[in-house]
Amino acid sequence: MSEPKIIDGKAFAAGLRDRIATEVAKLKEENGITPGLAVVLVGEDPASQVYVRSKGKQTVEAGMQSFEYKMPETTSQEELLAKVEELNNDPAVNGILVQLPLPKQIDEQAVLAAIDPAKDVDGFHTTNVGLLGTGSDNGLVPCTPLGCIMLLRDHFDGNLSGKKAVVIGRSNIVGKPMFNLLLKESCTVTVAHSRTQDLPGEVRQADIVVAAVGRPEMVKGDWLKDGAVVIDVGINRIDKPEGGTRLVGDVDFASACERASAITPVPGGVGPMTIAVLLANTVTAACQQNG
Ligand code: GUN
Repeated sequence: MSEPKIIDGKAFAAGLRDRIATEVAKLKEENGITPGLAVVLVGEDPASQVYVRSKGKQTVEAGMQSFEYKMPETTSQEELLAKVEELNNDPAVNGILVQLPLPKQIDEQAVLAAIDPAKDVDGFHTTNVGLLGTGSDNGLVPCTPLGCIMLLRDHFDGNLSGKKAVVIGRSNIVGKPMFNLLLKESCTVTVAHSRTQDLPGEVRQADIVVAAVGRPEMVKGDWLKDGAVVIDVGINRIDKPEGGTRLVGDVDFASACERASAITPVPGGVGPMTIAVLLANTVTAACQQNG
């Protein structure tokens, strides 16, 4: 194989943010609406703090209102539920995101269930999960998988119909919604996971491979079909032999480049798409709430 196309998620996300900023400016001017996104961070997880800061910055850069709530690690479930209720009732807030993971004293599902589905810009509420699972276009869709689909649609000029796709990973945040989105695009979809018996054999069948397992460089190039398109959702920090650390995906990039026809790099592939799609979901939510 010749060198694969490198799918530039960073550039795609920048373009998407520009289009969102234009739409936000138009909403303000024509309808007097400024979309607002509220992010709730419980505890001090350093990775979550970085994400939340970045979300706030990009929200403001797109011309939207950003509301940030930092709550202590010791926050009780009742206190967090009260915050969610306050945001559900605040008309300036169109989107609510409670950063996961939550401290262990808090029942994550109970918190997600308390978010108004119309403001659930993460798409994690069972109402939105159900809408996606029944093929509806009316719900809000989880950001990372929706970002992956945008990259795939762009690569295949909008037509994924009949492609064989393998999703590796069955999480509620990526794997399961990815399955539903690929099915909606009329792909033939296999979901592989830690108990899959012959993972290389499953991957070998696939025109499209989406890796979302959280294991550094697990998917090897010689598992791939020639010409496969590879979407790597993994972001893993590993130690370099010479000291220091580097970011790698769930796919062994160097060997995958020998077989793939296109691949997302890490960093600069799927990662930058997540926040851009979150902003897009916030605009969608604001438009739906304002009829
Ligand atoms: N933590 C890691 N990814 C996500 C995400 O997509 N949404 C939320 N709320 N928390 C996360």
